[in-house]
Amino acid sequence: MLALIHLKPIFYLMPKITYISHEGKKNTVEVATGLSVMEGAVQNNIEGIDADCGGSMACATCHVYVPENWFDKIDKPIDAEQDMIDMAHEPKKNSRLSCQIIVSNELEGLEVITPIKQT
Ligand code: FES
Repeated sequence: MLALIHLKPIFYLMPKITYISHEGKKNTVEVATGLSVMEGAVQNNIEGIDADCGGSMACATCHVYVPENWFDKIDKPIDAEQDMIDMAHEPKKNSRLSCQIIVSNELEGLEVITPIKQT
């Protein structure tokens, strides 16, 4: 007799990342592991993430807010990232530079919110 078992995939080579505008508009795309959340946004023409410096922590135009339920699942920002976040428009305690968040299988379903100033 065939048993029906629902198996959760172990590997997501293209985890789904949801970008949410300040107005609540959601845009879910698949982003390859190893890319940054910023690169996933740029490749998919997500509004509100310009990434003017290309990911070198020099512009903060990739600033996002990470919901509380995800914030602790992401590596903490290094000092240079925190310094740039402090110069971003309306930084909050859950602010991150999306160029510094590397997509991994553990981030399947991640949501990030773009600040009002960037849209
Ligand atoms: S792309 Fe410039 S700081 Fe992230």
